[in-house]
Amino acid sequence: MKPEIRLIDKTFSLYLAEDKIMARIAALAKELQQDYLGREVIFLSVLNGAFMFTSDLMKSLDMNLEISFIKLASYQGTKTSGVVRELIGLNKDIKDKHVIIVEDIVDTGTTVDKLMELMESHGAKSIEVCTLLFKESAFAGQKIPKYVGFEIPNKFVVGYGLDYDEAGRNIKELYQLKE
Ligand code: IMP
Ligand code: MG
Repeated sequence: MKPEIRLIDKTFSLYLAEDKIMARIAALAKELQQDYLGREVIFLSVLNGAFMFTSDLMKSLDMNLEISFIKLASYQGTKTSGVVRELIGLNKDIKDKHVIIVEDIVDTGTTVDKLMELMESHGAKSIEVCTLLFKESAFAGQKIPKYVGFEIPNKFVVGYGLDYDEAGRNIKELYQLKE
């Protein structure tokens, strides 16, 4: 576990170690199991960023569930473009099911709001958001995430699935941009 890493042209400092992330995921899993006991649940993972969080969260859950994936993009470099493009559509029937959107990070909230619209038009019974990270001070959306791993300041982070121009997704820990 390095205290600092260099990706492309920027330096990042260690922010959340793997054991801290794992402990928080175990707690989130417990909460989800209790809340969704006996219900038909589909987890909708938002690619690419949420792939690692989704994997660890799913392995921690002891319940019947379905998993599906959707791919969206709104970021270029370290700045949001404000426009969310849908790249891979929904491939599962979510009608009358309880949908839990799994995100790596909720920043402005644009992505989640766009997903909400999509899920509602497909007849989901309920929709909640489970995100590893929440930049509350940057949030300007409608749907407030119910399940949050960590509330973090409005600074760019990489690792654990999150990228800086596609670099750093494979890192086990989370790193924060050093300024
Ligand atoms: P939102 O639509 O502004 O909430 O942005 C959500 C998406 O932007 C996330 O799913 C991430 O892919 C990306 N994003 C937001 N903040 C960061 C960050 O600090 N590092 C890497 N990606 C980020
Ligand atoms: Mg994402």
